[in-house]
Amino acid sequence: MDNNPIGIFDSGIGGTSIWKEIQTLMPNENCIYLADSKNAPYGEKSHEEILNLSVKNTRFLIERKCKLIVVACNTATTNAIEYLRDRYDIPFIGIEPAIKPAALNSKSKKVGIPATKGTLTSALFHSTSQNHAAGIEVIERQGKGLVELIEKGDLESESLKSLLNQFIQPMLEKGIDYLVLGCTHYPYLIPVLKEILPSNVQIIDSGEAVARQTKAILLKQNLMNDLDGIGHHQFYTNGTIEVLERFVLNAAPNLSTEYLGFLI
Ligand code: SIN
Repeated sequence: MDNNPIGIFDSGIGGTSIWKEIQTLMPNENCIYLADSKNAPYGEKSHEEILNLSVKNTRFLIERKCKLIVVACNTATTNAIEYLRDRYDIPFIGIEPAIKPAALNSKSKKVGIPATKGTLTSALFHSTSQNHAAGIEVIERQGKGLVELIEKGDLESESLKSLLNQFIQPMLEKGIDYLVLGCTHYPYLIPVLKEILPSNVQIIDSGEAVARQTKAILLKQNLMNDLDGIGHHQFYTNGTIEVLERFVLNAAPNLSTEYLGFLI
């Protein structure tokens, strides 16, 4: 048993969509969430920059005694998770676009994936597509500009809707029946996506699967928290605390949470 916190980091507030699933599945676990909003978006940065930022975030969480780290950012996962696993002696859980269930269930054999440039150009993304989507046409689209709007708390403005439409319409014209969300910021766009997508197109988000995987690893390594009651949640950001707080409170209004700034 280990009552130290689960660490979660993202380039910003998007990973709170993953934190929420973890908190729902394992309510007694403590968590530390690190939002590196000052450096968002990671998706347009070089591989080296993403590696360095991921190491910085990992050190921050390890200094605060995290027992496991969830890399709640597709771009950081696809560029840095192997490096982190090789260098640090705690388990890492990554987020990869859930191509496999979409490929298995697609009738049109066409699946759309909006994600960042950093994710779509990574070796890990390519090997996942090749392994799990043979015989499927994967229609990729770089969602440039979306993360920036979400980081400002914009989830429904006309400019956001029109940008999203530009990414999604070409996928619809190709006949996709599954849309795989390839960035942890995008689950916050599901209400707007539902306005845009016809009813035959399913949205796939990996949040619940990531929470189940986190629990499985904690159980396997005997790292579960054995305290009764609801865990404590600390949120660190080098961006705007008010925006992060709004996202967390919308997701989980009654939790014991603490919001802290940091400088790195
Ligand atoms: C970004 O920071 O560009 C997006 C994060 C992600 O890929 O999940």
